This record gives sequence, C-alpha cells and structure tokens, in this order.
Amino acid sequence: MKSDWSVSRRAFLTNIARTGGAGAAYAVLDALGATALAIGEAHAYAGPPPMPAGIGKGKRVTIIGAGMAGLTSAYELSKAGFTCTVLEARARPGGRNWTIRGGDLIEQSDGLQKVNWPKAPHLYFNAGPARIPHHHHALLGYCREFNVPLEIMMNDNRAALYQDDAVFGGKPVEAKQVIHDANGHFGELLNKAMSSGGLDKELSKEDRERLREVLAVFGDLKADGRYHGSERAGYTEPPGAALKFGKIRDPLPLSELLKAELWQYKIAFNQNYEQTSTIMQPIGGMDQIPKAFAKRIGHMIRYETVVDEIRKTALGAKVICHNNKGQKTSIESDFIICTMPLSVLRNVPNDLSPNYKKAIAEVRYDTPAKIAFYAPRRFWELDNDIYGGMSWTNREITQILYPSQGIGQRDGVLVGAYSFGVFPEDDMSRVSVSERLKNAIVSGEHMHPGYQRMVRDGVSVAWPNVKYSQGGWASWTAEQKNDIYRTLQEPDGAIYFAGEHLSNLPAWQEGAILSAHYAIEKIATRVRS
Ligand code: PHE
Repeated sequence: MKSDWSVSRRAFLTNIARTGGAGAAYAVLDALGATALAIGEAHAYAGPPPMPAGIGKGKRVTIIGAGMAGLTSAYELSKAGFTCTVLEARARPGGRNWTIRGGDLIEQSDGLQKVNWPKAPHLYFNAGPARIPHHHHALLGYCREFNVPLEIMMNDNRAALYQDDAVFGGKPVEAKQVIHDANGHFGELLNKAMSSGGLDKELSKEDRERLREVLAVFGDLKADGRYHGSERAGYTEPPGAALKFGKIRDPLPLSELLKAELWQYKIAFNQNYEQTSTIMQPIGGMDQIPKAFAKRIGHMIRYETVVDEIRKTALGAKVICHNNKGQKTSIESDFIICTMPLSVLRNVPNDLSPNYKKAIAEVRYDTPAKIAFYAPRRFWELDNDIYGGMSWTNREITQILYPSQGIGQRDGVLVGAYSFGVFPEDDMSRVSVSERLKNAIVSGEHMHPGYQRMVRDGVSVAWPNVKYSQGGWASWTAEQKNDIYRTLQEPDGAIYFAGEHLSNLPAWQEGAILSAHYAIEKIATRVRS
C-alpha cells in the first residue's frame, strides 16, 4: 500500500465532510423559502417545497431515472397536479439504492453473477447506500411518511478490528486498543511537555493545572501523569467471579500506532458529520424506500425503458427512448428532469448547450466497489464479540462491514469489502470478479483467521461496471464547484437536472432528494409566473 494514500484519503474524507455539511443543505432549503431558521437551531427541515394544489394541471414532466431524485420529483410533482412519466432503464426502482438477495442476478459489464444465498429477511446486501444519518431529515421524512420501519445501523464498534500489514506484526487489534492506547500516550506526552515548560507560553498556570486533570480522564492516566494501560483498551484475562480480578492488556507502543496508516483517518471516520451515531437502516434492506415510493407512483414509471436521445422542442423538450421489446417512442413534454448520473448522460445524444455538455463531460466519478459473502455461522459475533460496525484494513478491501440486521441469528451476509474508489489504485473493477473475490478472501484471512472456510458464495458490485450507473458518485473539484457545478443547477431551456451530483451531500440519498426538491421548486416557480 502506498503511504501517501492516507493523506489523500484523509483529504477526501475531510472534503466530503466539509462540502456535505448541514450548512449547505440548509442554504438550499432556505433558498426554497422552506425554512424558518432560528440562529443556532439545526433542526430546520420543514419538508418538501410547498406547492399550491393543482399548480401543475395540464403540464407534463418527463423524469429520467427512478432513483431517489427521480422518485422524489415524480411523487411531489404529481401531488401538485403535474402529469409525470418516469423513464427507468432498469426493471426496478431505486437506481444506486440496490439491495441484493439470494436468487438475484447481478449484471455488470464484466459478467453475470447469480446470488446463491439462502433466502431470509436478514440475508441481504445493500450494494449501494447503506446508512441513513440521523440528520438526513428529507430522507427520514419520507421514511416516516411512508411508514418504512428503521433500525439502528451500527457504524462504530469498539470491538471491531484494525489490521495493518506494517504494524503489530500484521495482526488485527481491537478498535478499543487503538483508540484508548493512543489517547493514553497523547495524554502522557502532553503532561511531559507541560512538566518541561513546553506549553508555558500557550497556557496559563491555572489552565495547565486544569488540563492535567482533563488529561487524567482523557487518557486514563495514573497519579504520576503517565499511561500504564487502561481497562478501556480491554483485557487479556477478563474479570470474572471470585478471584478472577482480570488482567488488562499491555498498551500498544506509540511508535507502532503512529506508523499505522489505519487508525489515522479510519478512526476519524465515525466522527465525520455524516458518519456519527445515530445511523439507521430500513428493516429488510435499503430498497424498502424506493419500493415505498413505487407503491405510490409506480403507475408513472416505465421500467426497462432506455433513453436514446434528449432533444429541445418548440413546446419544451423531448425524449426518444426504447423499451425491452425494442419499440422506440418519442415523448414530448413541457419539462424534463434528468437525474441520470453524468457518467451516463455524457454518452446520450442531446441538444444541450455547449456549456452544459462541457460540464457533463468533465466531472469525474469515483469508483467504489463492494463485496458480500454468505456466512453459515456468524463467526464475528461468536468468536470476536463483534455485533455490527466495521473492521478496517490497509488492504484493498478497505473494510469488512458486519451486518446490523439479524444479530444473534445463525447465519448472515457480511460485506467483505467496501472500497471508496477515490484513486485509480483503489478501483477494484480493474480486475475480474473472481480475482476480486479471491483477493477479498485473502485479505479477510488476515482479519479473521479461517475466513476462507467461513465465508462462501461471494458477489461483487463494482459501480463503474454497473450499466446505467457507470460510477459511484460525482467527485467535483473545488474549481468545478465554482463553475460547471453551478451551470447544471440551472435548466437548459426546459431541461432540468437533479441527483446527488448536484448537491453538497455527494454520495448520499439525502443529496439526491434535496436536489430534486430544488429542481421541482424551480419548475413550480416557472409555471406560476
Ligand atoms: N455515503 C457513502 C458512505 O457512507 C459514501 C461516503 C463515504 C460519503 C465516506 C462520505 C464519506 O459509504
């Protein structure tokens, strides 16, 4: 593994955290006039943009894509009287919101995979989105409105593991050790710095005294101000009855901790604004959400209908498409909302203006990939006391995610790899499916000895290879954010754009929904004037 990865990965995550903050989301909502924000009040989501009833009467809208942005647009616009047609290339709603179960077929440009797992409610794999942060109000709002039951998705687990080939002899260590031993060492170091006058300029005498007290708690330091290990990092012999007093672990050496590429950004992962507790998931799979939309607006969706051309007309705009029987149709409407990922749209012949074409062509898409395995025995629970959460590694699988669903059951489906695909070296789609699965088993073996015998029937979804997605999520540069990103916020004639790629919550369903709200509000305003 390259050592500069950690730096770039950290930059990526910080960037996501920075660009995806609530400030951005509320700025959008504010522009819609949908918020009554009190200073310092974070919970300001007032629902989808208000639309006078019947405002869309006699107006037709063609929505390209039945992912979260398309579904949201059709649901809200049709409530306001618009006649909506949703064109969806796949045979299901949801787009990248895709839950895979036993018996399913996974079709990718690099081959067809059959999912050979048994069928049970807890045996599923969210190949796309898998987390709902507690402050994603728009998405949570639809879950409430449609009665989609949610449960906790464990996103942080101190019993999960860190494994780095370069440190600790390549052996996995528990998150609790890494976190608390680091805190202990840092606390001790600060104490030493203060004792030798190192912080005299920065801190008053009183503040130094207070800081000593804080550090004693922060690092679980002894009276001598030093770190001698802590029960927080776990035991080699756990305490029990009678004379079983317990024996705490020896602290991990500081120099090893500092060398580990792992703990640096991976520990901070759960502190990202979007990744902190509480994170939720729909019971039974993320696709319960698009299914709930489809229950209400399914009659507007034309599945297995592929868009061939997007044209401007005197009336508005027109889509030329074909269905799974090869029948071509042309659909003219007052407006189009195009929610296709730009990675797909850039290959669809269209009449868009040159600056739009340029914007669509230029943005890069990250190349995330996941792998899932069936495990007949929940070894992570039985052998490691791991219930949900994830283990991190410096290997290409990046992490192993343990299911929050089916806790305590006999078997489970676990995510054996989730690479964000931010850098070319991270792109698992470069190698064949069978090679990816083989690599994931080798890496898993470093985390859980015996892994190769404990997991089976692996499947892999590499988003660059998924037709009609061709990538994970848009990855704008700061310059693009100031330039071509803004171009696409405005319609080109009657053609509007929406999706996670046009939000400041990239790679989140919430971003797709808020972007759809933004587009439909613009249409409503235009119709009214
Ligand atoms: N939303 C995705 C996830 O939680 C992608 C993402 C990864 C976004 C890391 C931000 C940070 O997995």
